[in-house]
Amino acid sequence: MSDIPLSQPDQAKDEVPWWRTAVVYQIYPRTFADSNGDGIGDLPGITSRVPYLRELGVDAVWLCPFYPSALADGGYDVDDYCNVDPRFGTLADFDALITVLHSAGLKVLIDIVPNHSSNRHPWFVEALGSRPGSAARDRYIFRWGAGSAGDQPPNDWQSQFGGPAWEPAGDGQWYLHLFAAEQPDLNWHNQQVRADFRRTLRFWADRGVDGFRVDVAHGLIKDLNEPYQPWSRLSDITRPDGSHPLWDREELPEVYREWRQVFGSYDPPRIAVAEAAVHPTRRHRYGADGLGMAFNFEMQEADWDPADYRRVIDSGLGDLAKGNTPTWLLGCHDTPRVATRYGLPRQDGGTAQQIARQWLLTDGRQPSVDPTLGQRRARAAIMVLLALPGSTYIYQGDELGLPEVPDLPAEELQDPMAIRSKGKEKGRDGCRVPLPWTTDGPSFGFGPGPARPPQPPWYGEYSVDGQSTQRDSTLALYRATLALRRTLLAGDDFAWQDTGSDNVMAFRRAGAWLSITNFGPRSFAMPAGDLMLASSPLDRDQLPTDTTAWLRST
Ligand code: GLC
Ligand code: CA
Repeated sequence: MSDIPLSQPDQAKDEVPWWRTAVVYQIYPRTFADSNGDGIGDLPGITSRVPYLRELGVDAVWLCPFYPSALADGGYDVDDYCNVDPRFGTLADFDALITVLHSAGLKVLIDIVPNHSSNRHPWFVEALGSRPGSAARDRYIFRWGAGSAGDQPPNDWQSQFGGPAWEPAGDGQWYLHLFAAEQPDLNWHNQQVRADFRRTLRFWADRGVDGFRVDVAHGLIKDLNEPYQPWSRLSDITRPDGSHPLWDREELPEVYREWRQVFGSYDPPRIAVAEAAVHPTRRHRYGADGLGMAFNFEMQEADWDPADYRRVIDSGLGDLAKGNTPTWLLGCHDTPRVATRYGLPRQDGGTAQQIARQWLLTDGRQPSVDPTLGQRRARAAIMVLLALPGSTYIYQGDELGLPEVPDLPAEELQDPMAIRSKGKEKGRDGCRVPLPWTTDGPSFGFGPGPARPPQPPWYGEYSVDGQSTQRDSTLALYRATLALRRTLLAGDDFAWQDTGSDNVMAFRRAGAWLSITNFGPRSFAMPAGDLMLASSPLDRDQLPTDTTAWLRST
């Protein structure tokens, strides 16, 4: 794909394109800030908080979907790709937000959802009203049902959110939805679908967005040739060889090549980051050889464990050899909060992710979580991520050390995962509780009205206002780390440093500074160097347990 310009104008000047080292703040609009008191966060709410983002010191924001939607999956069910849901604001509000972000020096990525539309999208409404085999149906994935009357789904495939992946159209055909039934999968073999999405990309690029986050980027192309493989044979979704019929197909780069042509037609070229849950050896197909960048989810899956961290860092840096920008994240709107994951006891045979999901099912009663420990480790962790080459994503509220809310009342749960799995999964609402901006007041400053889902009484302890005046708060640590990172930018130069202890991980950057993390139960003697910053106070010359420090080499 080297024939397509992604960042040649910058490279010619021998500069690193902004996104290769960007710290990107992820905003979930519904729960970030509410300007008008209806309990739903909105675009003017975000605009009012741009000074906060600027002070935090991030380089860019990623806006989760704000498009017209029934919010059956938090807005990942899009009715109209080129508009703003009235509950979030208007296109004029969007333009105002972009202007204010840009004048604060922040870039903007927006979420684009190409794998599926909503069931209220005019195309899908037309498809349901059209006959089998029609052009309208060809934009989606319709198949005849099984059984003599066609009253059985075509096969036993399951939705990612639980339950069957097929829904009856009422005339013997069924449509495929790998997510909720309100999210019919689009047919990416259809040229009209492809052309329309390129138009959508241009619509937003023309409005000034700097790039896109591409939802389910590994899912667009499917092989539905019969005979269908049974679901039991399809559980390994991250294969090294592109042989899965639903995910990470070999044909996908062709789609993204067309997108890159669109991006390359702008100056500066637009960029995209792929949400691609693929085998690590295939990440570059979505990154350097695909959309420009790809998320690496391995860090989010990792435990607070030195062996896990070393392995995940090596894997991420391995991308550099393929021209890929390493990307790092501790959490997002789909994962139990990192400050909680790292505060749960380790158990045999389960990752921190799996343990946290189990814990959610008990409303947070069993096993017991240690929030102080979780937050301490999460602080040490973000200092590791921000010391690494590449780009880092921060999920809104992680800079406050917000824990997961495990005990939302069942009637407040909105996630289709909770609803469809019938109690087998609690879903993702507990990391999507509106942010606390003030220590008290209605909805802790989220807006003049209520917060949905409701905030727990202890939320005010984590508020922005409260933490802004505390020198040792997690927010203060994030601000200090981000400010320091700006002064230290070290390119891709990275070298592991032997510490003599398996529990203590250290690496040197640009030959000039060192990041060192103590995962072990006992303090560790600090190596030589001037201390620049530490995630927890040092104990004289000792690095305490669960702490990261950055040192300038002497
Ligand atoms: C992505 C989103 C998630 C959404 C799903 C379906 O994984 O991050 O929130 O539910 O895609 O669009
Ligand atoms: Ca609102």
